[in-house]
Amino acid sequence: MKKIEAIIRPGKLDEIKDALAAAGILGITVTHVLGFGRQKGYTQIYRGQEVVSHLLSKIKIEIVTLDDKLDEVIDIIVKTARTGQVGDGKLFIQNVDEVIRIRTGDKGEKAI
Ligand SMILES: Nc1ncnc2c1ncn2[C@@H]1O[C@H](COP(=O)(O)OP(=O)(O)OP(=O)(O)O)[C@@H](O)[C@H]1O
Ligand SMILES: [Mg+2]
Repeated sequence: MKKIEAIIRPGKLDEIKDALAAAGILGITVTHVLGFGRQKGYTQIYRGQEVVSHLLSKIKIEIVTLDDKLDEVIDIIVKTARTGQVGDGKLFIQNVDEVIRIRTGDKGEKAI
């Protein structure tokens, strides 16, 4: 199992959420976050000019999925989240050791 952590533009959340649901994704977690990337929170960088970084509102979506669905989920997020402008966001992929459904005690793939 894998966890995808997607940092995206807030305005893209609804579209991505709907696309994931349509693809049969069974659960997501969404958090409002603050962050900056290479442009330090600006929409463009001015060469040679020192700027103080500032934090922009972003959305973090966490999705735990089966290994064989990973590529499909990544595809959906990248296609839906991309505008082509700086600040479109990033995906971080991690291995997940265990998932446990609290209500039933189900573990592993059954619990996703
Ligand atoms: N290396 C990183 N570690 C943790 N969070 C990051 C990292 N890079 C980006 N982020 C998060 O993703 C958000 C969007 O990043 P962003 O898309 O601006 O990345 P970038 O590398 O600057 O790419 P681009 O040049 O396309 O803007 C940031 O505001 C931050 O929350
Ligand atoms: Mg950036």
